[in-house]
Amino acid sequence: MVELRHVTKRFGTHEALLDASFEIKVGEFMTFLGPSGCGKTTCLRLISGFDTPTSGQIFIDGKDVTMDPPYRRDVNQVFQNYALFPHLSIYENIAFGLRMKRVAPADITRRVERVVQMTSLTDYVDRKPAQMSGGQRQRVALARAIVCEPKVLLLDEPLSALDAKLRTQMRLELKQLQKKLGITFIYVTHDQEEALTMSDRVAVINAGRIEQIGTVNEIYYKPATRFVASFIGDTNIVEAEILQSDSGKLLCRVEGGLELKINQPDIKPSSRILLSLRPEKIRLHRTDSGGLNCFPCRIAMETFKGAMDEFTLVTTSGLELGAILANDGTPGGDFHEGDQVFASIQPEDIHIVAE
Ligand SMILES: Nc1ncnc2c1ncn2[C@@H]1O[C@H](COP(=O)(O)OP(=O)(O)OP(=O)(O)O)[C@@H](O)[C@H]1O
Ligand SMILES: [Mg+2]
Repeated sequence: MVELRHVTKRFGTHEALLDASFEIKVGEFMTFLGPSGCGKTTCLRLISGFDTPTSGQIFIDGKDVTMDPPYRRDVNQVFQNYALFPHLSIYENIAFGLRMKRVAPADITRRVERVVQMTSLTDYVDRKPAQMSGGQRQRVALARAIVCEPKVLLLDEPLSALDAKLRTQMRLELKQLQKKLGITFIYVTHDQEEALTMSDRVAVINAGRIEQIGTVNEIYYKPATRFVASFIGDTNIVEAEILQSDSGKLLCRVEGGLELKINQPDIKPSSRILLSLRPEKIRLHRTDSGGLNCFPCRIAMETFKGAMDEFTLVTTSGLELGAILANDGTPGGDFHEGDQVFASIQPEDIHIVAE
C-alpha cells in the first residue's frame, strides 16, 4: 500500500530521516515509535505529501507519488496539532471532507452521526473548536479523518491529549475500527504501550534512523539493538565475552565473571557482545534450582508495584540486575529486600543486541 525507498529528509544540515526503506501492507496497522524529535512526524508528512524528501522515492498503491501534492494521494492525516477549522461547528468540521467530495447529503448525515457516536462527541456537535477541551478537539480531528474512509489513514499521536481511561478505550475502538474498515493505519506515538497494544508491526526510530521494523513480538522479544531493547519495556543490558561457541549453544562470561549459556547463532570465541535480559524472565528461588543459568544473588532493593514486585538483584560478582515478580500468591514466592536467593534465566530468554 505504501512503500518508501531510501528516503532521506534534511532540514538544512539536520538529518530528520535517514535512508528509510520499508513497505506497509494493505490493511496493516503500522506504528512509528520513538522519542521526541526522532523524525516520526517528518516521516508522516512525507507520506501524506506535506513535505517532499531530499532524496528517495515514495509509492502509494504502486504509484510513485514522491512529487505529488497531498490532494492527489488517497491518504488522510490526523495532525498532532489537530488543525481544525475555527469558524466551523464540530459537526461541519467532521462533515467537511465529505462535502468536498460531494457525497450525498443523506450519506453525510449517516456517516457523520456514526463517527460522532464512536468518538463520544454527540453532545458537542454544535460547538466551535475554541469551546472544546484539548482532548475533545483531538477526538474531532480523529472523527474528521475517519469519516472520509481513506485507503491510508495517518495518525500523529491522536490520543496524547486524552486522559488515561479514555485513551485505553479509544485504543481498542480505533483498533476495532481499523479492522472493520480495512483501512491501512500509519500511527505515530512515543508511547510504547500504545504501540504494543495496537500495532501489527512497529518501526522503532532513533535520531532519524529506523533501528528495527517488526511485529510487536519481534521488537519486544528479539530487539535488534540496545536502543530498541531499552526503549520497548525495561531490560537489563550487560556486556559479555564469548567463551565457547558450539552449534547454536554459546557460553559467555558477563562483566564481573558470571557465566551464562545462551542459544544464538555461532559467534567466534572472545568476541564482545551485548546481552538483553528482560526482568520478567528472571526467576527467583530459595535454593539452587540445579537448572541452567542459576546463580546466587542478594535482593538489594524491593519496590512494591501492586500487581508485581520489582527487585534489584546483586550477584556475588557485583552485577546489578532488575527482576520483576508477579504478586500471584505462589507458595514461597514472597521474597524480600536483604534475602540471599538464587536467580535463573533460560538460555532462550537472553538475546544478543547490537550497540
Ligand atoms: N520544518 C523544519 N525545519 C527544521 N527542522 C525541522 C523541521 N521539522 C522538523 N524539524 C526537526 O527534525 C527533527 C524531527 O522532527 P519531527 O517533528 O519529525 O519529530 P517527532 O519524532 O515527530 O517528535 P515529537 O514526538 O516531539 O512530535 C527534529 O529535530 C525537528 O527539530
Ligand atoms: Mg511529532
